[in-house]
Amino acid sequence: MPLPQNLSFKSMKALSDEDARALSGLHMRCFIGSEVWSPDEFLSVSGDQVRWGVYAQDDQQNPLALIVMMDSGDDCEILTIGTHPQFRHMGIARYLLQFVEETAHERGAGRCLLEVAADNPAAIGLYVSEGFEQIGKRAAYYQRENGHPTDAIVLSKTIRYE
Ligand SMILES: CC(C)(COP(=O)(O)OP(=O)(O)OC[C@H]1O[C@@H](n2cnc3c(N)ncnc32)[C@H](O)[C@@H]1OP(=O)(O)O)[C@@H](O)C(=O)NCCC(=O)NCCS
Repeated sequence: MPLPQNLSFKSMKALSDEDARALSGLHMRCFIGSEVWSPDEFLSVSGDQVRWGVYAQDDQQNPLALIVMMDSGDDCEILTIGTHPQFRHMGIARYLLQFVEETAHERGAGRCLLEVAADNPAAIGLYVSEGFEQIGKRAAYYQRENGHPTDAIVLSKTIRYE
């Protein structure tokens, strides 16, 4: 599916306070109560050397999707990724993933790693369709609000960007 035409993509470098608040608001919509990043966390990414991110916004400058990465030696890691619920299934997260893979390669990474909850089929479907493979499992890694522990699956993809 083609991406919505009014999207533009911005780096998380030099975020304003307003940008950081808007990204935190988007993160809250994506994760609904759990794992939500505060505006200060986005501002700290903005000033960091090893963490970096990209977000998609509409022509009113409302952020609709985001991804935050961390360089880790020869690897890079996806720290968080999310698309606003009203803009899912449009290929935006896939686009962000492919974009950061290219950037990670330029930053020297040979492999991309992430953890995903075993009960998150949308995210797992996205990663597997992008060539990620399971390399491990962390039992009872996530604690759900209802008290149920959920395993984390560790996925990896060798970056071969041409
Ligand atoms: C996971 C998430 C980022 C996907 O965002 P998105 O912009 O809707 O994803 P895309 O439209 O780019 O979808 C790409 C692929 O992901 C997979 N996918 C997306 N939603 C899916 C779903 N509900 N079930 C199964 N697979 C799904 C499909 O393989 C899809 O490819 P297709 O459209 O060709 O079938 C989004 O559902 C989200 O924000 N979830 C909440 C936050 C979250 O769980 N983040 C991941 C933490 S590890």
